[in-house]
Amino acid sequence: MAKDSVGESDGLTFWLARSEDYDDVMAISEDIYRGNDYLPHRYHAWLTEPHRVVMLAKREGKLVALESGLVVDDGRTVVVEGLRVSPSERGKGVAGTVQRFTDQYIQRLYPSVQVKRLTRGDNAGPQKLAKFTLLDRRAVLSLRGESEAFDAFLSELKAKVSAEEGPAPELVVLDEGEQLRGVLLDPEITSRLQLPGGAIIQDWQPLRPIESNLEVLRRRGLTWLADRAASPTFLSFHTPPYPIPYNGGSLRFNIDLFGTGLAPARRALLSHLERARGALVGMVLVHVYMHRPLWEGLREFCEVNAGVRRCRDYWEQLFLEREL
Ligand SMILES: CC(C)(COP(=O)(O)OP(=O)(O)OC[C@H]1O[C@@H](n2cnc3c(N)ncnc32)[C@H](O)[C@@H]1OP(=O)(O)O)[C@@H](O)C(=O)NCCC(=O)NCCS
Repeated sequence: MAKDSVGESDGLTFWLARSEDYDDVMAISEDIYRGNDYLPHRYHAWLTEPHRVVMLAKREGKLVALESGLVVDDGRTVVVEGLRVSPSERGKGVAGTVQRFTDQYIQRLYPSVQVKRLTRGDNAGPQKLAKFTLLDRRAVLSLRGESEAFDAFLSELKAKVSAEEGPAPELVVLDEGEQLRGVLLDPEITSRLQLPGGAIIQDWQPLRPIESNLEVLRRRGLTWLADRAASPTFLSFHTPPYPIPYNGGSLRFNIDLFGTGLAPARRALLSHLERARGALVGMVLVHVYMHRPLWEGLREFCEVNAGVRRCRDYWEQLFLEREL
């Protein structure tokens, strides 16, 4: 076995990722997720994140794939993310080999891990997903605009809310200490907010609402809103905007909504955009994740004259689980 590698399988050698592998990882990542790839921004943070493994696969010394897993839910679950295979190696089963090796490696390191969870934006169909349990599907509304267009966009949304709903109670910002703790650890939260598969999905990362995951959520710099500070019926947060390769360099802004009411969903969308407005520069892609029946109402809400437009038809985030 090559020195310092962590194993080999099917002609591939496996290595834990290092900072100096960044350029090679970017070289196999071109055009992934329609330019929305988060990995250029997150790679270095992943390398030092507690309970995360970032695995590289090489063939004859050349990088061919990456997969990562974060152990969460009191050590019971590994959430896998970042899977990619270099374009010239696709279609030969490399992804399967890399996933099997990484699953086994993580299980050796964390024997408490029982299940693997992941989210996907491409619906590969029932046959390909047969090895997984589909825990839930979320709707995604995707918008795009130059940062300057957001001022007019927000004014139009605001005018719609006040014309159609009148003065509504303001959403409250939850602090990430006791307030958030009280909300997330409330045993009723899953049923009250219809949490997808019983989880909070933060920018594609599913986490059960339990004590040990609060620390993971606090690392992400989220801004939380709720319709009330105790026992909310609507909860949402945004992840700070981050750079993506789209169109030569853009910002990606993700908003996750939990709950079934359209009125609080509209106000939450508006409020998150207002709060992040100062950080929006250049081209911005906004992705809003929600309970599926809300999509049509939010699509209609966002149809205004300002230059922020929907950039994708209805699409879904799939939340999958498999026993290891
Ligand atoms: C998706 C991708 C990783 C597949 O790589 P590949 O080596 O060509 O995959 P293969 O067609 O050989 O399929 C091999 C295995 O990977 C699985 N697989 C394919 N796409 C997958 C995905 N998006 N998520 C998880 N597993 C996937 C297949 O089900 C198959 O599993 P099995 O061997 O257990 O049956 C590759 O096309 C790629 O890098 N695409 C761009 C990045 C991307 O879209 N990543 C998806 C992350 S959700």
